[in-house]
Amino acid sequence: MCRSEPDAAVRLEASWVLVGPDDPVRGYACLVFARHVIELHDLTDDEGPALMRDIRKVSGAIARIMNPVKMNYEVHGNTAPHLHVHVFPRYHGDQFEGRPIDPRIAKRPAYAPGEFERFREQLANDLISGRARMAPQPILQTERLVLRPFVLDDAPTVQRLVGAREIAETTLTIPHPYLDGMAEAWIRTHRAAWEAQDRGTFAIVSNADGLVGAIGLHFRPPHRRAELGYWIGRPFWNRGYATEAARAVIRFAFETLPLNRIHASHLTRNPASGRVMVKAGMQFEGILRQHVMKWDRPEDLAEYAILRTAFEAAGA
Ligand SMILES: CC(C)(COP(=O)(O)OP(=O)(O)OC[C@H]1O[C@@H](n2cnc3c(N)ncnc32)[C@H](O)[C@@H]1OP(=O)(O)O)[C@@H](O)C(=O)NCCC(=O)NCCS
Repeated sequence: MCRSEPDAAVRLEASWVLVGPDDPVRGYACLVFARHVIELHDLTDDEGPALMRDIRKVSGAIARIMNPVKMNYEVHGNTAPHLHVHVFPRYHGDQFEGRPIDPRIAKRPAYAPGEFERFREQLANDLISGRARMAPQPILQTERLVLRPFVLDDAPTVQRLVGAREIAETTLTIPHPYLDGMAEAWIRTHRAAWEAQDRGTFAIVSNADGLVGAIGLHFRPPHRRAELGYWIGRPFWNRGYATEAARAVIRFAFETLPLNRIHASHLTRNPASGRVMVKAGMQFEGILRQHVMKWDRPEDLAEYAILRTAFEAAGA
């Protein structure tokens, strides 16, 4: 699988990153997908983007540390051990110049004395400790709801509620049918996604009805904005749960995170979601015509947002 005995491993959102002193090229890294899968198309809708985020993160870190001319990437779908990705930095005058990397003819070691140890430390710093850490995901409380991180025990309820066709019909990333194991795999991504400042996902738990849905923010730190998304199980619609949860998450986000804008969009044939956005204080911004394909049909999106200035003015 990966080229040599790994000397260090860092756990990212969806994969392990392995590096070793005997690797064929300076700054090489191997990402091994954290769950046993064989091919790229075995990944769930959430796992694919998560793996791509890991690849981009590692690629960016290596580029910053080693300053290569460019990168080569190889994705290997394997039965044993399983899916993994090689990231090879390329340099002027490297021993494979003008050719693909071939570890069998590599002159070892690729690293000068002490160079690997420095690279390993800088990579770990860049991937883990070099960025501002998120505080642990909080539990939010409202009059009728508790919004808390999901736990694996929620998986059967998630599968039952989110597996209903009515939920997949008006959302873009929820697979249908929703198969065994998908809820567990989804929940397992949450912690790392939070720590990576990528996504924050809360279970919506009602005092009266138990776990009724989910709400989440997808962060875009460079733009200081986040996208809000949610679903409520069909038996619990029109009780105000989505609105109550959306208000709480928007308040939490503006009060504790350096966000400037929170936006959300819905398919125009899903006006109930638009009502939730308006009731949560968001403003309608316009229609994006045929912006998305839903089950092979182009669909219009209605876009809403609330800016920090409006949130603060409303609270004043
Ligand atoms: C959209 C969704 C989250 C709403 O959840 P909810 O808990 O029922 O929402 P709320 O009860 O807080 O508010 C629903 C509002 O929509 C209104 N509504 C319901 N059906 C409607 C319809 N067909 N047309 C217009 N408004 C409608 C309700 O009357 C209510 O507004 P009101 O308080 O002004 O009367 C829920 O229907 C759902 O999960 N749908 C499937 C997944 C989804 O679409 N997620 C959002 C993706 S953008």
